[in-house]
Amino acid sequence: MAIELNHTIVHADDKAVSAQFLADIFGLEAPIAFGPFLVVKTENGVSLDFINSGGDPVKSRHFAFLVSDAEFDQIFARIKERGLTYWADPMGNVENQINTHFGGRGFYFRGPEGHWYEAITKPYEMG
Ligand SMILES: [Fe+2]
Repeated sequence: MAIELNHTIVHADDKAVSAQFLADIFGLEAPIAFGPFLVVKTENGVSLDFINSGGDPVKSRHFAFLVSDAEFDQIFARIKERGLTYWADPMGNVENQINTHFGGRGFYFRGPEGHWYEAITKPYEMG
């Protein structure tokens, strides 16, 4: 059996705000309540399970999503509609630009809790 990432837990100041933000931006199904989590499922079966940090500071993490060209256009339009800042790089140095790494398009933006989200149309080419 091939081993696949199935889910990960994502800390947030307010799981409802963060989970809905992610679902809205990426055009995913509405978050599903599961125990203390609000679960956002992606189309390859991996879910991001948001949980309240309980007052602890949320340490910023990085989550990258591979999307089609059509989805990229929709996601990017939602970012611009909301007036959100986006970056071409994960350090936040190249503001309001996208990148064209590996012949695709990509950019980074931040969630309400401070996580870095990335949308790319081509996976990283390594090795
Ligand atoms: Fe990345």
